[in-house]
Amino acid sequence: MTLLIKNGTLISATGTSLTDVLVDGETVVALLQPGSTLAEAAEAGAERVMDATGRYVLPGGVDVHTHMQLPVAGTTSSDTFESGTTAAAWGGTTTIIDFATQAKGELVRPSLEARMAEAEGNCAIDYGLHMVIGDVDQASLKEMTVLVDEGISSFKLFMAYPGTMYSDDGDILRAMLNASETGAMIMMHAENGIAIDVLAERAAARGETDPVNHGYVRREELESEATHRAIQLAKVGASPLYIVHLSASGALEEVVRARDAGANVFAETCPQYLHLNLEDHLGLPGFEGAKYVCSTPLRSKHEHHHADLWRGLRTDDLSVVSTDHCPFCMKDQKEMGRNDFRFIPNGIGGVEHRMDLIYQGVVQGEISLARWVELCATTPARMFGLYPRKGVIQPGSDADIVLYDPEASWTISVDNHHMNLDYSAYEGFEVQGRVDTVLSRGQVVVEKNTYVGTKGHGRYLRRGLTNYLK
Ligand code: URP
Ligand code: ZN
Ligand code: ZN
Repeated sequence: MTLLIKNGTLISATGTSLTDVLVDGETVVALLQPGSTLAEAAEAGAERVMDATGRYVLPGGVDVHTHMQLPVAGTTSSDTFESGTTAAAWGGTTTIIDFATQAKGELVRPSLEARMAEAEGNCAIDYGLHMVIGDVDQASLKEMTVLVDEGISSFKLFMAYPGTMYSDDGDILRAMLNASETGAMIMMHAENGIAIDVLAERAAARGETDPVNHGYVRREELESEATHRAIQLAKVGASPLYIVHLSASGALEEVVRARDAGANVFAETCPQYLHLNLEDHLGLPGFEGAKYVCSTPLRSKHEHHHADLWRGLRTDDLSVVSTDHCPFCMKDQKEMGRNDFRFIPNGIGGVEHRMDLIYQGVVQGEISLARWVELCATTPARMFGLYPRKGVIQPGSDADIVLYDPEASWTISVDNHHMNLDYSAYEGFEVQGRVDTVLSRGQVVVEKNTYVGTKGHGRYLRRGLTNYLK
C-alpha cells in the first residue's frame, strides 16, 4: 500500500522542513516538497493520505537499553516482550534493543537462543539484542567473535553486582581486546560494585535499611571511579566503549575528558536522571522510595547533576537517551526489600515515556528539536548498527514514523500508561507534546489514541557494526 503523509513538519537530526513523506509498503520511498507536482502526483496515486497538519513527523524512537521479562534475584521484570513493546509503541518508540544474558557458569549460545525464543513472535515493534557476557572465558570470547557476524555487535559487562554479573579488570580487558579485533562495541555498567557492597553491608548493620540508603551507598565517586577505569581499560584494549545509564556530573567529567582527547568513548543517560532526584523521589517516606530504586541511582538535587547532564546532551558528550526500562511492581516485587534496601529489585519502568520526557527538554529550551530526534532515534541507530534502516526518514529507510502533536498537554499517570507496572515513576508529571500516530514498517500501530498494532509484527534485527566511531 502507498501512503502519503502530508502537511507535516519533518524533524531530522539535521533540522526541520515542511516535507511530505511517501511510503510504499514497509519503506519510505520519497521525500516531497509540499505542493510540488511530484507531491501532487503522489497524492493522486497514493492509496492513503494522512494529514499531518500541525504535527511533527519524526523517525520512530530507538531505545537501545531495555530489560523485558528480565529475571533478577527471584523475580522477573514485569513487562513481557509483548506488553513492553506495546507500551513502547504507544510512546513513539518503534525499535528496542534488549539484552540476552550469559550468566556465570552458562554458555553464550544457549542463553542467546533462549532469549531469542522469548522475544520471537511476541514483539509489537522491531527489536535487536545486545549480549551480556557474565563469564569472560575462552568459550565466550570465541562466541563474541562469531556473534558479530550474526548481527550482535555489542557486548555488555558489569563492574557492579559482585557474585553475579561482575567482571574484574582482567575479564574486562580480555573482552575489550576481543572487541578491538572485531569492531564490536563494549557497553559498561560503570559502578565500583565491590566498594558499594562494603558500604551497603555497613549501612544495613547500622539499621539504615530504608530505600534511600540505596542512593547513599552507591556514591557518585564510585560511578566516576569505575567510569575512569573503564575508559583507561578501553584505551589499553583499543575498543570503543559505551557507558550505560550515566547519572552523575563526576562520571560525565570522565567521559568529557576522554572525548576531548579523541577517544571512542560514548555515553547514554536516561530520563530518570534528568527528571527525578534522590531527595524528592528515592527519599520519599515509608517504603515509597522503593519505586525509584535503580542503578546507577538517582542523584541529589542539591548538586548540579541535572544541569550537567542536559549540557552533556547539548554538547554530544552524552550521545544517546535510552530508558534502561526495567520495571518491577510495588506489589510482590519491590516489596521483597521492604525490610532491607539491598533486596529491592533494581529498576524503573519508562519505555513508554522517553520521547515525551526528552521533548520537555525542547519545551524548556535545553535542546533543539533536531537534537531531540538525534538523541532518541538517529544516534542510537547509528551507535548500534541499525542506521540508515532505522533512526531516519529518507528513501530506503524503514517506514517507522511518528506524528507528534507539540501542542497537546497531559499528565502522566499509572491510570493512563500501558506498561505492566502498578505505579508510574512520573505520576502527576504534566507534559507538553504527545504522540498522535505511530507507524512501524509502514503499518499503523497507534492512531487517534488507539492501539491497532499486532503482537508478532516486530521483527528481529541483525545489526551491523557501529557507524559512530571517530
Ligand atoms: O537498576 C537497573 N538499572 N536495573 C537494570 C539492570 C542494569 O543494571 O541495567
Ligand atoms: Zn546496568
Ligand atoms: Zn540496564
